[in-house]
Amino acid sequence: MSKKILINASQLVTCSGFDAKRGKEMQELHIIEDGAVVIENGFITAVGKTKDLLPGVTDAEVVDCSGKAVLPGFVDSHTHFVFGGYRPEEFSWRLTGVSYMDIMQRGGGINATTFPTRAATLDQLKDDGRRRLSSMLSFGVTTVEGKSGYGLDRDTEVKQLVAMNELNEEQPVDIVATFMGAHAVPPEFKGRTDAYVDYIIKEVLPEVSDQNLADFCDVFCEANVFDIEQSRKLLLAAKSFGMEVKLHADEIVRIGGAELAAELGAVSADHLLQASDEGIEKMAGKGVIATLLPATAFSLKEPYARARDMIDRGCAVALATDFNPGSCFTNSIPLIFALATIYMGMTIEEAITAMTINGAAALKREAQVGSIDVGKKADLILLEYPKYQFLNYHFAVNIVEKVLKEGEVVYDKSRCFAE
Ligand code: NIG
Ligand code: FE
Repeated sequence: MSKKILINASQLVTCSGFDAKRGKEMQELHIIEDGAVVIENGFITAVGKTKDLLPGVTDAEVVDCSGKAVLPGFVDSHTHFVFGGYRPEEFSWRLTGVSYMDIMQRGGGINATTFPTRAATLDQLKDDGRRRLSSMLSFGVTTVEGKSGYGLDRDTEVKQLVAMNELNEEQPVDIVATFMGAHAVPPEFKGRTDAYVDYIIKEVLPEVSDQNLADFCDVFCEANVFDIEQSRKLLLAAKSFGMEVKLHADEIVRIGGAELAAELGAVSADHLLQASDEGIEKMAGKGVIATLLPATAFSLKEPYARARDMIDRGCAVALATDFNPGSCFTNSIPLIFALATIYMGMTIEEAITAMTINGAAALKREAQVGSIDVGKKADLILLEYPKYQFLNYHFAVNIVEKVLKEGEVVYDKSRCFAE
């Protein structure tokens, strides 16, 4: 039985709650000054002020957090971190004015990652994935979602998902796997999108479901990729297999992805750069989480999603990196805080809620992680500074000093710089 108590946290930023926070609730971080957390066998068993908790605790390792803000581990609820190959030339092309969708129509984009992902062995995918996860951990990410969608055939989609499931067992970051066979139409099905959707429904979904490889099913619902009808058909099939659904919605062209997310009761709709007022209202009404990905808008030089409008209309907003080899090759959490607060009209309090409890809710993990509450996993981060406000004030810099996963220190900045 292992027991630990963190004491003297200048701010214990609990983000307390077991549900997504909507609208005005996103502003409230439930901070305890001079805070303490008791951890037993990896779980939080008490939260309060140091002076109240410390006297009653015996036989515990004491961790002094003086001068440090302590937060729940971040939840990066939208990434594509398992893939083969890289596409640096596309970044340069985009800087000369070629659009992401033009590159995709010409056979680049997602399809350009499909070939190296098909060619990679399971071990190669896992080795690259492991390295990327350890970088995420250094930014304070303790739970991450990862999508398939670079195989675009049954065996490679399964290989990507198996890689995530195996990595989940062997390193500290919790991984939630999402099946995204409908990420693009592969060359074998060029011009036959309906036939590809049928292939996914008949040949791939049943296999993913039989092997229990994914919690969610996602689709790139976009003009010239999968339209509303094709997306609906696929996601209804996924639901019939007991999977929860998500959508890449209204990213480049407004085609009604937000409305479809509300109609289907999706857990989240993601991107939403072009979401309509009506779509936003419907999502708020149905409790669909708006997962916003500011680094993608930045990298594509597209307008940012209307976070302020969404929160003011009562939506629950989550923030995530969208880490992938094409539209957004970064897993930088400090960049997300900077863009969300400087360009999207979010307060730092709302952005922290969006990276913690709302990220957890976007993965249906809000009962287990995303806040510092009794009964949850002791996934915690210690900052180098005494106030959470340093997260965007010290912009674009990683100020995470230590990360605890289920109570154990799994990242310590000082050790990284030791000889
Ligand atoms: O979320 N938009 C579609 N999918 C990813 C990009 C994937 C890629 O370019 O490899 C996204 O931006
Ligand atoms: Fe994405």
